Amino acid sequence: MTTQTLRALKGQRPIVCVTAYDTPTARCADEAGVDLILVGDSVGNNVLGFPNTVPVTLNIMVHHSAAVARAHPRAFVVADLPFGDAHLEPGDVVKACRRLIQEGGVEAVKIEGGLPLAPLIERLVQAGIPVMGHIGLQPQQVNVLGGYRRFGQRVPEADALRADVEALEQAGVFAIVAEMVEQKLAGELVRLTRVPIIGIGSGPDCDGQILVAHDLLGLNERVPSFVKQYAHLHGAMRDALAAYAADVREKKFPAVAQVPGKPVLAQPSN
Ligand code: KIV
Repeated sequence: MTTQTLRALKGQRPIVCVTAYDTPTARCADEAGVDLILVGDSVGNNVLGFPNTVPVTLNIMVHHSAAVARAHPRAFVVADLPFGDAHLEPGDVVKACRRLIQEGGVEAVKIEGGLPLAPLIERLVQAGIPVMGHIGLQPQQVNVLGGYRRFGQRVPEADALRADVEALEQAGVFAIVAEMVEQKLAGELVRLTRVPIIGIGSGPDCDGQILVAHDLLGLNERVPSFVKQYAHLHGAMRDALAAYAADVREKKFPAVAQVPGKPVLAQPSN
């Protein structure tokens, strides 16, 4: 997958995107045929116990990006530029993106923001850094917004979103995440641009969809209303750990003494 193949999918078939923050999840996503893996700054609230994405630093993003890159996925790998970094001096933003690409091993960066960030994004693209835009709900703004909400229901906000898409396309982004954008407007944005619009909570008319893996896998018990859960891994993990705990306490595990010569690493059971 490249920026070109992703762009070419617009109008052909929906683009499948999901988050991953570690090697095994990236391997699973890749085996499942996902097109794009996002090392989201949502690692903060899904894995690291933070209340939101604001405390996530560049070092954290580089660390998790490298873990995902070590899966050598066929899927295109993108990392979030974390809170505040897009508002540094342009040279320092280039340095931050370089770290994600050179140390983290990702192929592109995602930056929250629309029209006001277009000049910066144009400069990054000229420097050889592929950029994915992110409009609508921008979770890094949570402390300004005072919570999460839907975007584009009022005329001025809908106009601003149209302007964001046009400016980001001009700046050279290869795709745009549209988060919690009013469904009809999201469909309009899709038709407004040749850039793929990847929706999250923005309805079925987008060029592709992205979900947080922890939400769709049921690792999180509370999920946003637009999420479909394809598994309930939180319960499965808890039950497996409870069964292990019971076996150890009842001396049912380990069952037999170690057999000399038996390989230490068991073969997968499936
Ligand atoms: O960090 C994240 O998980 C995101 C979403 C768009 C999935 O930015």
